[in-house]
Amino acid sequence: MEKSTYVHNAAAAETLAEYYDAPPMAYVHSYGCQQNVNDGEKLEGVLQDVGFGICDSVEQADLILFNTCAVREHAEQRVFGNVGALKKLKEQNPRLIIGVCGCMAQQKQVVDKLRQSYPYVDLVFGVDGIDRLPAMLAERLRRGRRYLEEPAQRNAVVEDIPIRRDSGFRAWLPIMYGCDNFCTYCIVPYVRGRERSREPAAVLAEFRQLVAAGYKEITLLGQNVNSYGKGLADPIDFADLLALLCQTPGDYKVRFMTSHPKDASRKLIDTIAANDHLCKHIHLPVQSGSDRVLQAMNRHYTAKQYLDLIDYAKQTIPGVTFSSDIIVGFPGETEEEFEETLDLVRRVGYMQLFTFIYSKRTGTKAAELPDPYTHADKTARMERLLRTQDEIAFPAVAALAGRTERVLVEACGRTPGTLNGRLDNNLVVEFPGGESLIGQWADVELTGSRAALLLGRKV
Ligand code: 5AD
Ligand code: SF4
Repeated sequence: MEKSTYVHNAAAAETLAEYYDAPPMAYVHSYGCQQNVNDGEKLEGVLQDVGFGICDSVEQADLILFNTCAVREHAEQRVFGNVGALKKLKEQNPRLIIGVCGCMAQQKQVVDKLRQSYPYVDLVFGVDGIDRLPAMLAERLRRGRRYLEEPAQRNAVVEDIPIRRDSGFRAWLPIMYGCDNFCTYCIVPYVRGRERSREPAAVLAEFRQLVAAGYKEITLLGQNVNSYGKGLADPIDFADLLALLCQTPGDYKVRFMTSHPKDASRKLIDTIAANDHLCKHIHLPVQSGSDRVLQAMNRHYTAKQYLDLIDYAKQTIPGVTFSSDIIVGFPGETEEEFEETLDLVRRVGYMQLFTFIYSKRTGTKAAELPDPYTHADKTARMERLLRTQDEIAFPAVAALAGRTERVLVEACGRTPGTLNGRLDNNLVVEFPGGESLIGQWADVELTGSRAALLLGRKV
């Protein structure tokens, strides 16, 4: 593993300044998970560090960067579509630089395709390229040739990368990178490399900065936060990290994702129960309710072990809510196995589900498995799962009416003149109010609900 600290690249900044007559503008678009969104914030920070302004339309941009996701095929197709749509822009402005980075660029077949079929893409680099972006850009400009990096795994932890955060009140804070679990459907361990934790002191320093800057919600990120601390010189586990961070004085809430059920401990649940800064909501992706499928997925837990943990959390944390990720149509999943998933969903009573139809990823073990079910079979199962979830969640949401909750106001609501606020339990309430409240705490009385959306009024 490589550990380093970001250094400003003065030579690259000079090359850029010579190339552009006016300060250049960059447009960065991130796809996929929060880790990738956080990477996108760092890409923008690094670009600002060498003289770029940040814009929000491709037409204004001198540099367009797509920070991509490889988790499902659909996401990849969208990127190729969006890159294809830039061809015209490049013909009109040959000085436009187009870059593709992130998880897709960690796959050889993607880099080959970009090289062969998208000659107007100037720059390709993977997830460990953020701090080297100025050097790569300068190289592209100096040489006047495309700069395409072959996928490699640097497995680096680079501290102090400049960052331009999207929000002034909600922040992402990665505590670890990579994944060693190799769930058989998942491309992440291949593209994001080996699991490595940031030093607790570095995490704590960033956390304190965020609290001091007035951030009200901080979400700790990792592919499997429950294995935080493995491999550090002074071992510390995730529950202890949470307790350490929450000693920081201030008015803030902490969330985290993602917890792998195989490593989620009772100690973690006790820590959540004991600490007011920690939201009483746990995202604990189960993926399937069938032991046969869980084993084929290489998940290392049974439905019973999962449910025991959920029961312990329900007993220990009053009012706790759960959310989960579920994959429908894993290769060979039978009707009976799918119904075990429906049973588990009913047993837990999730407030929210993130559901995905299995997507075959080249290079993973599951891609080799026979898959006798059609896409239509899987779509029909997905609809049944969604219906089951709605039958559970809608009444559970409606039952919260009458309570008054402190919410963080996030954005304008869909209905004109309303705002959306997020509850501790991760549900969203829509209530009348003006934009000046965005980013503030508000006490909201819950008056009813519409599907999974709570309705309320400010008290
Ligand atoms: N197909 C469908 N869903 C997937 N996920 C990960 N890999 C795949 C795949 N190949 C889902 C899992 C994971 C979430 C982030 O994405 O449910 O928890
Ligand atoms: Fe993928 Fe499993 Fe790692 Fe999550 S824990 S990133 S699903 S391999």
